[in-house]
Amino acid sequence: MEFYDVVRSRYSCRKFADRQVEADKLERILEAGRLAPTAKNLQPVRIWVIQSPEALEEIKSATPFKWITCPIVLAVGGTKEGAFVRPSDNRNFEDVDATIVATHLMLAVQAEGLGSTWVGFFDEPKVKELFPEMKNYDLVALLPIGYPADDAQPSERHALRKAQSQLVKHL
Ligand SMILES: Cc1cc2nc3c(=O)[nH]c(=O)nc-3n(C[C@H](O)[C@H](O)[C@H](O)COP(=O)(O)O)c2cc1C
Repeated sequence: MEFYDVVRSRYSCRKFADRQVEADKLERILEAGRLAPTAKNLQPVRIWVIQSPEALEEIKSATPFKWITCPIVLAVGGTKEGAFVRPSDNRNFEDVDATIVATHLMLAVQAEGLGSTWVGFFDEPKVKELFPEMKNYDLVALLPIGYPADDAQPSERHALRKAQSQLVKHL
């Protein structure tokens, strides 16, 4: 799919078909995450592919969302250790890096004809309790992914975009 078609067609999909995602699609999506830029190319980011029925049940139990009935959830986190720290104010860029990786993943999902929603509303301590390997990471996103259900629809909020004039200021 052409890049601007991806951007224009993407919406938060919250209803999935009962259909598996092909391994080659998942592979390309993960590769898009790997190719994301990070500060100083330090790549202090991890992507967890949650796909087994047990792990999917566990991750669902850490969010309030009943609609997460998809075949895969990607969890994305950054770690302060080994991330770029801006010397002028000691700002650690792990969260920016992890967010860029998650954005690449989300757009690649769309390019593959799949759907996802960026989920930020989850119980992070509970997720870390369920998946101890995530302990040292700042989890920025859960991305439930799958084929959209035939009747999946964008929410009303999807269309409520600010005008470019409100978003952009030319100096
Ligand atoms: C950082 C972030 C966190 C979000 N968390 C949630 C969430 O926890 N649950 C949810 O249903 N949608 C969540 N969303 C999706 C937004 O609500 C959605 O992107 C926004 O309303 C615009 O709609 P659209 O994605 O369909 O264009 C999140 C999006 C972002 C970027």
